[in-house]
Amino acid sequence: MHASKCLVTGCAGFVGGHLCEKLLAMGHTVAGVDNFFSGHRRNMASFADHPGFRFYETCVTRTDELAKILAGDVPVRVCFHLAAVVSVAWSMDHPDRTMEVNHRASQRLHALCREQNLSTFVFAGSAAEYGETGQAAIKEEAAGPGTVQLSPYGRAKYLTTSLVEQSGYGASLRCFNIYGPRQDPASPYSGVISRFCMQALAGEPVTIFGDGGQTRDFIHVADVVRAYLLAAGLDDSADPPGTPLHGAFNVGRGESTSILELASIIAELAGSRSEPRFFPPRPGDIRHSLADAGKLAAATGFKPVTAMRPGLADTVAWMRVGAAGQS
Ligand code: UD1
Repeated sequence: MHASKCLVTGCAGFVGGHLCEKLLAMGHTVAGVDNFFSGHRRNMASFADHPGFRFYETCVTRTDELAKILAGDVPVRVCFHLAAVVSVAWSMDHPDRTMEVNHRASQRLHALCREQNLSTFVFAGSAAEYGETGQAAIKEEAAGPGTVQLSPYGRAKYLTTSLVEQSGYGASLRCFNIYGPRQDPASPYSGVISRFCMQALAGEPVTIFGDGGQTRDFIHVADVVRAYLLAAGLDDSADPPGTPLHGAFNVGRGESTSILELASIIAELAGSRSEPRFFPPRPGDIRHSLADAGKLAAATGFKPVTAMRPGLADTVAWMRVGAAGQS
């Protein structure tokens, strides 16, 4: 395969770190950008010294800095834009900052990539763009100008996805609930799987918000990384190979798991006897969120390969050893 230089914003994040690792292993070179707002150096540990990797500590709102990186000695060919305010809850208290980072800075970077003729711009969209649809399995058309997102996070992501769609340049991946090794369990905004794994391994009660009957479509980070490669036209297994996608695409497994089921599987895998403890529901929590991922499958043949149990086992195993050594 032809080696490309890629820009990965959010390279010290949970997903960005896995994406960089994969791109470098495939022989691409990577310019990584992060400001450590929610990312961690430890997420870059496996590739920080790789000769094909160069790190730039800056914020994605600094469009002038990004322009310099894009126009480096070897011009960037593909941009993966993952840097963002990643917490729905934080966005509720900081709507202006969320709009600046997740929408306006993204809009500027998109324009820059287009001006500089990058082959594509792949944006980290989100299932949060849909708000409460009332649909069993959500299709991409469910988000439109009249959609009421439940958070500034969802709104800002929607606005950026819309501009990508309307411009005819680039793709937005609306990922559902991503989990896997290296997801930070320690923040109050952490994803439910990382929190449950940490609590179960510590023998503490798992914290359930609401009655635990709410459901999510969980997808392992390794599958999400493959979806990013396909979207950029960088995956050899794609059919046809090497064609960047255009528009918005859901990324999920199309399977529902309730929070109670999740608590029980994680307790079993962790060998923990910790009981669930129930707390009031979180404001703005969606009851059910399930992807219809048919559009991405039809465009690329993409099929997630990591089933729930092995994926959770992988995450628990990492947390047993990896999280203990986190800095
Ligand atoms: C997640 C993402 C968000 C993404 C969205 C897409 C995280 C932190 N957030 O939001 O960026 O855009 O999916 O749909 O990954 N819960 C508990 N106990 C806990 C933690 C959570 O019961 O200790 C419950 C929550 O109330 C919620 C569910 O688990 O019902 C999932 O929560 P969470 O992992 O935070 O993800 P989302 O809110 O779905």
